[in-house]
Amino acid sequence: MWGGRFEAGTAASVEAFTASIHYDSRLYKYDIAGSRAHATMLKDNGLLSAEELAAILGGLAEIENEIDGGTFEFRRELEDIHMNIEKALIERIGPAGAKLHSARSRNDQIALDLRLYLRDECDRLMDLLDAVRGAFVSLGRTYLGKFMPGYTHLQRAQPVLISHHMLAYFEMFSRDRERLADCRKRINIMPLGCAAMAGTGLPIDRRQVAELLDFPEVTANSMDTSGDRDFAIEFVSCCTLIHLHLSRLSEELVLWSSQEFAFVDIDDRFCTGSSIMPQKKNPDIPELIRGKTGRVVGSLMALITLVKGLPLTYNRDLQEDKEPVFDTVDTVSASLAITTELMANLKFKTARLDEATRTGFMTATDLADYLVLKNIPFRDAHSIVGKAVASCIERGCELTDLNLAELQEFSPMIGKDLFEVLSVEGSVNSRISEGGTSLIRVTEALEKAEQEVTG
Ligand code: ARG
Repeated sequence: MWGGRFEAGTAASVEAFTASIHYDSRLYKYDIAGSRAHATMLKDNGLLSAEELAAILGGLAEIENEIDGGTFEFRRELEDIHMNIEKALIERIGPAGAKLHSARSRNDQIALDLRLYLRDECDRLMDLLDAVRGAFVSLGRTYLGKFMPGYTHLQRAQPVLISHHMLAYFEMFSRDRERLADCRKRINIMPLGCAAMAGTGLPIDRRQVAELLDFPEVTANSMDTSGDRDFAIEFVSCCTLIHLHLSRLSEELVLWSSQEFAFVDIDDRFCTGSSIMPQKKNPDIPELIRGKTGRVVGSLMALITLVKGLPLTYNRDLQEDKEPVFDTVDTVSASLAITTELMANLKFKTARLDEATRTGFMTATDLADYLVLKNIPFRDAHSIVGKAVASCIERGCELTDLNLAELQEFSPMIGKDLFEVLSVEGSVNSRISEGGTSLIRVTEALEKAEQEVTG
């Protein structure tokens, strides 16, 4: 394969060890698209005749068809997708095929394939993110006006609208989408023409190749380009954050679907049973998503470690970038798609949630704020309410179970109007600060989100 330099062929063990064709064949469409553009540019710059270009394009189309149809025979001794396609081309069309690699190295070729691939995957993941964002928006609409407990430290904190909680996830996945869109800008720069690492003396036109492949810009430094995988690391970082968000949601679903919480019902089709305990309905999907987060984090670590300490420029280590990237794409795509389906079929148990908001002193902060409005310093108010709560715990009741006289023992400033303040409705709807959980704010946020997902 290496032509004149070698006397002996590669040892079988080395061939097995160095080959990447069993995973990088995934890039064939991009490799062929890159070759088409490269060949077209070579012809326009006098490095190929029109006939040679036609033969190359014909041969590439044939190879692409065969790979599409599953009849192409990949050969491990040809190492990777680049050599497999180039060799097949030469075997089919002869000398013209052997001219295709002019002014090109596999170093800039793999950088191109990976950038083309990740550019598409960014677009696909953004669509998947839009779908999951849409699911949260519909849940927000369906349950608008219904209450649930909000938590800090997994202790009941303050009542909120279910829709507010759903829109929290909408925000998280919206940021993820924005991050991917931004990452895509740095992926979307054309590397071909850097050749091995120093550029080429052959008369090429990198900007033409960029235009043919719909890149707005070409990379600036040939040495940087051939050893750069920042864009892949950045992509996997974006995916890691997506999966962290999915994992946090999954954790909530596991908790919420337990008998202890009993806040939601996950549709039967998205649960599994136990092989021994007939009564069980397990939330395996969220559990698996939570678990798969480790794979994605692992891939990020693998890529970071891969690049650490590499001298410029290309080093073969970089071939190890593909499996973590591919696994990340597969894992995050599958997790996003199944989450969308699961959320679209999720039912909140609104009666139970409502009841849960009425215990646990969740409107205690409202009492403190009430006293603040009566000109009691917040720290003093905090302490007054703390005493009232302690007294309720002792009596085994809620703040709302105390009558006016009992409440006034804690502060003479308390009046009848407190009862509205202590109600769940009063508490939630008082939170009209920007980003707060009142019906007014949440309705506005929901409308904005609806516009974003439909517009
Ligand atoms: N399969 C290689 C990779 O994935 C392509 C580049 C090989 N370049 C080289 N000089 N051996 O990185």
